[in-house]
Amino acid sequence: MNQQKKEEEGISMPLRHTEETRKGVLLPPPRRTHVVVWCAAVFCIVFSILLILTGIIIIIIFLVIKPKHPSFDTTGASLNSIYLDTPEYFNGDLTILANFSNPNRKIDVRFEFLSIELYFFDKLIAVQSVQPFPQRRGEARVEQVHMISSEVYLPLNLSSALQKQVQSNRIQYNIRGTFRVRASVGLTHFSYWLYGRCRIELTGPPSGVLVTRSCHTRK
Ligand SMILES: *[C@@H]1O[C@H](CO)[C@@H](O)[C@H](O)[C@H]1NC(C)=O
Ligand SMILES: *[C@@H]1O[C@H](CO)[C@@H](O)[C@H](O)[C@H]1NC(C)=O
Repeated sequence: MNQQKKEEEGISMPLRHTEETRKGVLLPPPRRTHVVVWCAAVFCIVFSILLILTGIIIIIIFLVIKPKHPSFDTTGASLNSIYLDTPEYFNGDLTILANFSNPNRKIDVRFEFLSIELYFFDKLIAVQSVQPFPQRRGEARVEQVHMISSEVYLPLNLSSALQKQVQSNRIQYNIRGTFRVRASVGLTHFSYWLYGRCRIELTGPPSGVLVTRSCHTRK
């Protein structure tokens, strides 16, 4: 029994030994892989922490600055003329007072592109652009915009609707503004499109005035 045990040990001893030497020979390559994996892991952790910190900083900046987008409103209008040259060709002259305001407390903006369209129902009847301008925080600016329509084709149902509105002394137009706004926050700035919509109601020409309006601005 003892001899057998010794023999077993005798046999297993060299075996264990060779296994150890094999491990000893094979260890260096896995160790190198570990270094690479470790570096990757450290890099990932550092990168994740930076990402989270950046996120937190952006959230804090937004909470402190509370960005709002500028707004577009029609504060006044005068309807100078509506003239149908044959029932289907429309001529018109409307002046609107467009109020652009920047409600931000910490952000200056610049209106880089401004286009204002006038619609009767969903038919485009006049387009006008406004010169770009900068606008500081809290400022409002009123621009007089002259919308002129000359020989604009109106389908018969629309021209009869317009005639009815003129007779009832209440004319409804839709205004759609498209603006490119550049906002400056500290050293950075970003640009975006802004869309203003107004539905206005006026008394009849030649000295029509604004009766009601409903406006909203969205991104
Ligand atoms: C323009 O809009 C601003 C902000 O809504 C307002 O304070 C200002 O009174 C308006 N200006 C006119 C002329 O209506
Ligand atoms: C005028 O007619 C067109 C179809 O010809 C229709 O799509 C449109 O809604 C009509 N407009 C009004 C105000 O009745």
